[in-house]
Amino acid sequence: MGYNFIPMLLALSLLHPVQWEIVSGYGLRCKEEERRALLHIKAEMSFSFKWEGKECCNWEKVTCHPITGHVTDLDFGYFPNDYTINVMLNATIFLPLRQLRSLSLSGLHIYGCMPGTGFESWSGLSNLKMLNLSYNNLDTSTISSLVEIPSLRVLDLEDNPNIQGDNLVKEFTALKLEVVNLRSCRFFGSLPYLGDWSSLKALSLANNNLNGTLTSKGLCRLENLEELDLSNNDFAGNIPACIGNLSSLKLVDLSDNRFEVKFPTSMFERVVSLRYLSLSNNHLEGTLSISSFSNHSYLEVLGLSTSALNFQVEVSNMPFQLQDLELSNCNLSVEPTFLYSQKKLRALDLSNTRSKGLSPVLWLLENNTNLTQLDLHTNFFTGHLRLPLLTHENLSVLDISDNHLSGELPVDVSAKLPNLYYLNLSNNYFKGPVPLISMANLQYLDLSLNNLTDDIQNTLSMNLDYHLNFLDLSNNNFFGSFTNVTHHLEMSTLLLNHNKISRELPLGICNISFWVLDISNNELSGVLPDCIGRAGYMALVLSANHLEGSIPSDICTMSNQLWLLDLSDNKFSGSIPCSNNATLQILDMSKNNLSGKYPMSWLNVSNRLAIDIGQNMLSGELQIWNSTESSLNGFIARDNMFGGHIPEQICHFKYLHILDLSFNNLSGQIPSCIITMGLKYDSDLYMDSGSSTEVEELNFGDANFLIYINKHIILNNYKIQADGLQNYGMELMSKGRFDFHWYKILFLECIIDLSSNKLVGNIPEDIGQMTWLTTLNLSNNHLTSAIPNSVSKLQQLLSLDLSHNSLTGKIPRELTKLTSLEVFSVAYNNLSGPTLDMKAQFATFDNRSYEGNPNLCGPPLSESCFSYHDTKLPPRNKTGDDQGDESIEFLILFSSFSLFFVVSFWGLITVLYFKSNWRCALFNLVDEYGDVMHMGVVLFVRKIRAAQDN
Ligand SMILES: *[C@@H]1O[C@H](CO)[C@@H](O)[C@H](O)[C@H]1NC(C)=O
Ligand SMILES: *[C@@H]1O[C@H](CO)[C@@H](O)[C@H](O)[C@H]1NC(C)=O
Ligand SMILES: *[C@@H]1O[C@H](CO)[C@@H](O)[C@H](O)[C@H]1NC(C)=O
Ligand SMILES: *[C@@H]1O[C@H](CO)[C@@H](O)[C@H](O)[C@H]1NC(C)=O
Ligand SMILES: *[C@@H]1O[C@H](CO)[C@@H](O)[C@H](O)[C@H]1NC(C)=O
Repeated sequence: MGYNFIPMLLALSLLHPVQWEIVSGYGLRCKEEERRALLHIKAEMSFSFKWEGKECCNWEKVTCHPITGHVTDLDFGYFPNDYTINVMLNATIFLPLRQLRSLSLSGLHIYGCMPGTGFESWSGLSNLKMLNLSYNNLDTSTISSLVEIPSLRVLDLEDNPNIQGDNLVKEFTALKLEVVNLRSCRFFGSLPYLGDWSSLKALSLANNNLNGTLTSKGLCRLENLEELDLSNNDFAGNIPACIGNLSSLKLVDLSDNRFEVKFPTSMFERVVSLRYLSLSNNHLEGTLSISSFSNHSYLEVLGLSTSALNFQVEVSNMPFQLQDLELSNCNLSVEPTFLYSQKKLRALDLSNTRSKGLSPVLWLLENNTNLTQLDLHTNFFTGHLRLPLLTHENLSVLDISDNHLSGELPVDVSAKLPNLYYLNLSNNYFKGPVPLISMANLQYLDLSLNNLTDDIQNTLSMNLDYHLNFLDLSNNNFFGSFTNVTHHLEMSTLLLNHNKISRELPLGICNISFWVLDISNNELSGVLPDCIGRAGYMALVLSANHLEGSIPSDICTMSNQLWLLDLSDNKFSGSIPCSNNATLQILDMSKNNLSGKYPMSWLNVSNRLAIDIGQNMLSGELQIWNSTESSLNGFIARDNMFGGHIPEQICHFKYLHILDLSFNNLSGQIPSCIITMGLKYDSDLYMDSGSSTEVEELNFGDANFLIYINKHIILNNYKIQADGLQNYGMELMSKGRFDFHWYKILFLECIIDLSSNKLVGNIPEDIGQMTWLTTLNLSNNHLTSAIPNSVSKLQQLLSLDLSHNSLTGKIPRELTKLTSLEVFSVAYNNLSGPTLDMKAQFATFDNRSYEGNPNLCGPPLSESCFSYHDTKLPPRNKTGDDQGDESIEFLILFSSFSLFFVVSFWGLITVLYFKSNWRCALFNLVDEYGDVMHMGVVLFVRKIRAAQDN
């Protein structure tokens, strides 16, 4: 579940070590030898607390027995600021403390024990019951010596990322452990057999990498089990129904796995002792009636969020008082009147439940002041947002985005909800100005995708708190300029894109250091101030405005953290100034009037990801220095005036898989080594939905940057949804697939487009080695070879265009193996012999794929291969195709979605935002070769039309 839950037993036993009544008047209680031992421990462990005087029982971290005076509890746990690194423990230093009952060494960076001083030496500490070694770096072998301490009952090993192994569990079953916390360790593979561990009362193996099923793991033999937390693993299959026989269960958290649960099920009906039940983020299906929990009067937390699309939850009333209810993605389809009975709710997630009727929610807001988190996004709530009459102190998260709320924003939001941390009202129908929003704790404010209107200067200088971390006002109707306000702005992310902000950029933008500033798609004019190099941006996005003049040379030295610079679709002129910004990973200067040479050394910096300089007037040769370790994924230089040869160095770009040099004056041959380009590109890697470690490696530093990226993927998703791709979009979103992996998605298109140049010679014979290719366009050149057989190995190919060359020979029959192909043309060459069999995909290509080759014959051409005088085929019925013309562009996108929606959808969505030029690339391609592309989608047009007719 979304909340970091600490199992009750652990919370009780470990976080609050046993406190004895302080009994005074006993004189000196501290035992001298124990005092010396403590001082020795302090010295050995380099602790810095002040321990003075003889009475060690009064020292901080130390608890003594009230009568005997022996030290019983030591809590050295977790000093976030005390940054000792990699401590080797000498466990024997604790031995003099014979009466020790509980010991916490949490968060001390312990990574092992010194030779001969391991935990086995504690076998003499016969009272040691509770041991907390969480947040260290201990490994399995060090830990396994704990089996020598028979008195242990409670063991906390959370977040020791090197602890793993079935054997460990087997060894531990020898102990009579009751509470075991192995959260965030490194268990993987299937769950170890637990059936012999009958002493267990509470077990957490949450947040490991366990997989497989829970069947025959002996779980149901653990009759004393009260708490079971297996959340955040990769378990699949059914939950064993016999869990319902464990009548002591109080907590069951199986959330964030891939369990399949078909409701109704009686599994939990008899476990009336349950307080906490979370099955959230599994595959829940069928229909669940909440009344089946009517005997669970203790239930406080109920998590039923699902990743499936059709899980119906029927709630008429709730016979218990919940603190936390998660029903995200369930189908409620009702007004949530059950909320009227809930008096203790603290967190409520009703997102994407098709709920409507705002009244119960407003009731809750007004009448339940204990509420801290309210997530209602993506529902059908309508009406005006009314805030409670009285101040609501506890609410910190409010998300009502993606509903149909209307009217103006409530003016008193700061007064009524003074402790909000996160407020998301985006994607509603709010209009009018932004009221004063100034709350001390507000970090994240999203008002995007509404119809808010006001002078932006007014909004930013008068109404919004500058201490916000993230502010999104994009996709509204803000106007005016923000000339005078920039010196106030302190947020790390400011999004103003898609408004009507006009006039010049203020000089003040040089003095601020945003992580992300996006003012794209506005009406900015004037020049980019020379001082821009002083600014400290991570991402600066100014595309689609009317900016002009030259690009200041300072931009090269701009901040040492600039990661993304998008100046595309403006009127910048002059040359591209420099080449050496080392941190820049994505550069888009496309669609301007830039001229002169492109400083190719930009490509050599090892961490570049993508460069788009297309649609300018750049000239000169494409010279690339040797770059052995370039991470460049995409290079787009289409539609310029580059001449000379394609440099062989391009072959060294092992990650490059989008190369678009079309519409230039390139001559010479295609280097045969090009087949090694993109060699290391691995689409699987990019598709991986694994952990977020890669993102950390990219070192963005600020999660908001990721939110920004995410939002734009989602945003474009909305746009596409409006055009009817809803299902794919929703499905992916509900699976959380967009999560923080945008950059992997960024380059899923694999394109080589060298079309419309003056290339001569061969198509490289071994081009089939570039198996990752999805688009190959070599059309409109002067290529003379035959079509290599190996093209048939490009199994991912969606589009193959070799038209308008001078290719000779026969069309290799093996091409029919390209079953994903949607676009195919070899028209206007000198090919001879028969066309390809009209099987599979190839049945969808008509004569325009082949025409203009005088010596080709066979269907769909009218020339028969047997006799030129055979009866001609009847003229093609044109109606079916011609109607589709206007929607071709979209349909081409759509058709690739439908077949390869993961690849193309996400590739394109991201492209649509980041690379408006890439979109153009695709669309221009359509303009230019509309006919050819057209044929590719004929079949698809028909399908759509059939669907529309029905
Ligand atoms: C561990 O501590 C004990 C007791 O102070 C000492 O005798 C022993 O030498 C230490 N061992 C190591 C390896 O430092
Ligand atoms: C479980 O994980 C292991 C390694 O983590 C992997 O080798 C195995 O294929 C996975 N099994 C299943 C069923 O996913
Ligand atoms: C809050 O509860 C009171 C008493 O039940 C009721 O009169 C009032 O209308 C409620 N507020 C809202 C917003 O429903
Ligand atoms: C808030 O919670 C406390 C403790 O759980 C409870 O006593 C109180 O009645 C609740 N207040 C409201 C308004 O529900
Ligand atoms: C947005 O507001 C403007 C007036 O401010 C209005 O003319 C326009 O119709 C509104 N658009 C929508 C979609 O409500």
